[in-house]
Formats: sequence, C-alpha cells, structure tokens
Amino acid sequence: MYSQIAAERAAACPKPFVKWAGGKRQLIPVLSGSLPVRFERYIEPFLGGGALLFHILIGQGGGSRACLASDCNSELILAYITIRDNVTELIRALRVHEEEYYKDPESYYYKTRDGPVQSDDITRVSRLIFLNRTCFNGLYRVNSSGKFNVPLGRYTKPNIADSENLMAVSRLLQSQRLSISCRDFACVVDEAQKDDLIYFDPPYMPVSKTASFTSYTNGSFTLDEQKRLADVCFQLDEKGCKVMISNSDSEIIENMFRNSGSKSWNIKRVKASRRINSVSGKRSGHMELLIRNY
Ligand SMILES: C[S@@+](CC[C@H](N)C(=O)[O-])C[C@H]1O[C@@H](n2cnc3c(N)ncnc32)[C@H](O)[C@@H]1O
Repeated sequence: MYSQIAAERAAACPKPFVKWAGGKRQLIPVLSGSLPVRFERYIEPFLGGGALLFHILIGQGGGSRACLASDCNSELILAYITIRDNVTELIRALRVHEEEYYKDPESYYYKTRDGPVQSDDITRVSRLIFLNRTCFNGLYRVNSSGKFNVPLGRYTKPNIADSENLMAVSRLLQSQRLSISCRDFACVVDEAQKDDLIYFDPPYMPVSKTASFTSYTNGSFTLDEQKRLADVCFQLDEKGCKVMISNSDSEIIENMFRNSGSKSWNIKRVKASRRINSVSGKRSGHMELLIRNY
C-alpha cells in the first residue's frame, strides 16, 4: 500500500535523481515566476541535476514545448541516457549496491569509490548514483586527476535504489520533445532560434576565497569562462532569444551585463537557500543574481 502511494507520488512529480552542486530545487518558485510569458523551445546548457528542466517537462511552467538539455560532464549525461533507456537494469544494479552497503557501509563505500571504474554503462552509472547517495553532503566532486574524492557521508538509511523516482524520471526523459547531449555550452549559439528561452546556470563565480564552486569536472570554470559565457548571452540576445542566467552575487558578473553597450539587462538579487560548503551554518539564505534580457 505504502509503496503504491510512493509510486503514484513519484510518477506525478519526478525529482532530480542526483544531488548536484548548485542544484536549483529550492529556487524553483523564483525561477518559475521569472520565465517569460511566451517562448518557443526551452534550452538548458548547464544541466546538472536538472531541477528547472524537470519542472518544465512536467508542465509546471512550460507546457508541451520542445526542450534541449546538455552538460559537458559525460558521466552525468550517461546517467540521464541510461535512466531513459535502461532503467530496469540500472535499478537492479543499485539494489546490489544497497544490499552490500548495508552489510558494512564504510568498507563498501571506500571499496566502490577507490576501486577501478568499469567501462560498462550500468556499472558506471550505478556507481555514480550510489556514491552521490552515500557520500558526504551528496555532492559530485572530482580532484584534479578526475577521481571522485568525497568521504563517506553520515546517513542512517540512504535510499540508494529509489526505484519509484527512477521509473518516473525514466518516463519523463523518454518524452519525444526532449533531447539530451554532452557538449560545451557555447554550442547553443548555433542551435538557438528567435524566441527560444535559454537558461544558463553555470558554475558560479566565487564570491570569497573559501566559496569556490569551480570543481564540477576536472576542468575549471575560470573568469575567462565567465566572460565567454557573457559573450554567448550577448550573441543570443542579438538573435532575438530570451536569456536567463543565474550566478553568484558578484560585482564582476553584474558589471559584465551592466556595461554591455546599449542593451539594458534586467538584473535582480534573489534569495537562495543552498549548500555552499560543508559547514552546516553556511547553508542558510544568501543572495544571488538572476539576470534576464526580458
Ligand atoms: C551549477 S551546475 C548546474 C546546476 C543545475 N542547474 C541543477 O539544478 O542541478 C553547473 C553545471 O555546469 C556544467 N559545466 C561546467 N562547465 C561547462 C561547460 N563548459 N559547458 C557545459 N557545461 C558545463 C557542470 O558539469 C555542472 O553540471
């Protein structure tokens, strides 16, 4: 009975299947209220956990429009594709992780984290989801040589094989109107057309020496990358696209858009409550920028 209720709830409202640095779940009411009244396709080039994409796909802000989602993290995109195309096998592999983990959480976690990464898709994706569910703070973070280096988290009963939600996510991702790809954000310039909405949620510009959000992949998102992104936004604006950008409350970012010639960008500060580092006291509300050309 309970699991039928859980399945019905998950089917009605599939949630992101990974916790991702910079995840936007808490900000959905603000983002949703900031969408343009009319737009054609929805494009999200820094997909991460995909909170706003999910919101739009389930029709709470976007209706039946086509959506293009991408990210440069190939492991993450492989996870989306595997959940879409092979969810039953994936759930089976996650159940094995769950069983082994509960026998001895610490040794199984480190054995999985530090062991060789296999080449088959199910093993890779189940490992990513398992580590994401059990690691400290649930954050995907690799070191400079591309190794996942987060210690074990303190969870009493992590839901490793969340089959109801995974099945619901799989159905959502099978939508004919969604395309998912692994690529750099700048590819969007060639693809986007007039009146498409592009939402950029890049790795944030650090606002202090300790709050660095640049370790999503084994590359890093430098100030030059932020400038390249601003340039892409200006090109999209010239094409007649609708552009919305999230970033930290950084003067440098604000000035990039304030001083962008004749165009007046709509820049507002919104209150966000999100994990900015591992100290729980630093998770409370803070301000961030929401920048739009409409
Ligand atoms: C702030 S996260 C996105 C958070 C996401 N909106 C969510 O709700 O979970 C930024 C994402 O940008 C991706 N990324 C970093 N550099 C990129 C690039 N050059 N092109 C495309 N994606 C990139 C990272 O892999 C990461 O998933």
